[in-house]
Parts: sequence; C-alpha cells; structure tokens
Amino acid sequence: MYSNKVLEHIDKPRNVGEIENASGVGTVGNARCGDIMRMYLSIEDNVITDAKFKTFGCGAAIATSSAATEMVIGKTVQEALKITNQNVMEALDGLPAPKVHCSCLAEEALHAALWDYSQKQGIFLEGLKPPDKG
Ligand code: FES
Repeated sequence: MYSNKVLEHIDKPRNVGEIENASGVGTVGNARCGDIMRMYLSIEDNVITDAKFKTFGCGAAIATSSAATEMVIGKTVQEALKITNQNVMEALDGLPAPKVHCSCLAEEALHAALWDYSQKQGIFLEGLKPPDKG
C-alpha cells in the first residue's frame, strides 16, 4: 500500500509541466516497464531556481518526480547531485517493495538534467556520469 504522502503527491503532483529554455533537461526511461520521465531545471548562479517534470508512468513514478522537484528547488547543483532515490523515498515515507525501482527514475532524470546542464555550460561536475542511452 502507498503511504499517505505518496497518495497525496499522486492526487496533487507538484511542479508538473515544462520550463522553456531550461538550463538542463533530462529524459530517462525505465526498461522494466517502459515508463518515461522528463525533468527540467532552471539554474542561476549554481542554484536550482525551478524544476518541473513530465512523467508518463505509474503513480509511484509521478509521486517520486513530484517529490524530487520539490527537493531540488533552492539547492545548489552539488547538493542536488547528492540526492538519491533513497532520499526521495524517505521524503514520501517509503514505497512498497515492488515500486522501489520507480523511484530510480527520479534520481536518473535529475542526473540526466544536471548532465545536460553541465554539457551546455561546458563544466565538469564531480560524481556525475553521462546518462544511459538505453
Ligand atoms: Fe514504471 Fe513505476 S511501474 S515507473
């Protein structure tokens, strides 16, 4: 069963949408289920000032994208890079075991968007690897 927090994010997802001229955009897919998540970041002076997402996926994928965007806004790029799917799940009071893989999409989409940002800026971000091309 989903926690109340997960259900609340599914019911009212935060930060759904797109950012025009985003500083970084990351799109990832879950090979297990075919679901897709895209995350947009606005970054000014190394701080994430806005984050939006579009997810074509299950409730857990939507809730984790929603929670992840809330978590990254106001963080520096380096702080955002440290956010793991475990942190996102904790913010949602956990996910049922068969849904843990869904939370990986949020971490991967965030990293893919930060990778896109680093490529556009021509900067090296320690600990960041290029996203899988699938
Ligand atoms: Fe596909 Fe959850 S079942 S992301």
